[in-house]
Amino acid sequence: MRLISPSLLSADFAHLADDIQMINQSDADWLHIDVMDGTFVPNLSFGFPIMEAIEPICKKPLDVHLMIVHPEKYVERFVDAGAWSVGFHLEAVDDPMPILEQIRKKNCRTCLTINPDIAVERLYPYLKEVDMVLLMSVFAGYGGQKFIPETMDKLRTLKAEITRQGLDTLIEIDGGVNAQNAESLYNAGADVLVAGSAVFHAQDPKEAIRKIKGL
Ligand code: DX5
Ligand code: ZN
Repeated sequence: MRLISPSLLSADFAHLADDIQMINQSDADWLHIDVMDGTFVPNLSFGFPIMEAIEPICKKPLDVHLMIVHPEKYVERFVDAGAWSVGFHLEAVDDPMPILEQIRKKNCRTCLTINPDIAVERLYPYLKEVDMVLLMSVFAGYGGQKFIPETMDKLRTLKAEITRQGLDTLIEIDGGVNAQNAESLYNAGADVLVAGSAVFHAQDPKEAIRKIKGL
């Protein structure tokens, strides 16, 4: 698959409805929602009020990326707020299995995420348990950072393992994605690319989305 999930984090929060309109009219597949708690990552972003405000006007599935401690406290509320997929960080929890079950029970898609300093092998036991895994290609916390090139090897290794296990688990890549590196990421096995600044800070965001997708 060659999907794109633009990250709302880089949108213009004074004109959110305009940006959602742009997403609706674009070739974007999903909309990526970055939730930060100031504890798991050294930054705060937004939470339920923004989710609830955009859910009725956004026609694309909402792909929620929780960068928070204790995701078990909030995953169900994110599903109720309109999440289509809910992901959280493996390194933020002791045991992801009960939290994945909480999400699945609400008929929502699951995603497990790791930061760049976490070995990709730590995801292997869970590959068959989740719909998607997200490899961070920058350290979670801020938009606009530079892509970490070592992600490419991790991505190839992960893709090979998913194939070896005969699974259809999707791989999402998040951080520093742009029109220059998108093609090689898709070729290396990425199914979904998250792009914040490369989309919302572009002169023509719809065209930026098309370029990243290679359309
Ligand atoms: C970073 C977030 C990313 C971020 C991507 O913590 O998870 O989704 O918004 O932004 P860019 O594409 O600007 O690196
Ligand atoms: Zn993200």
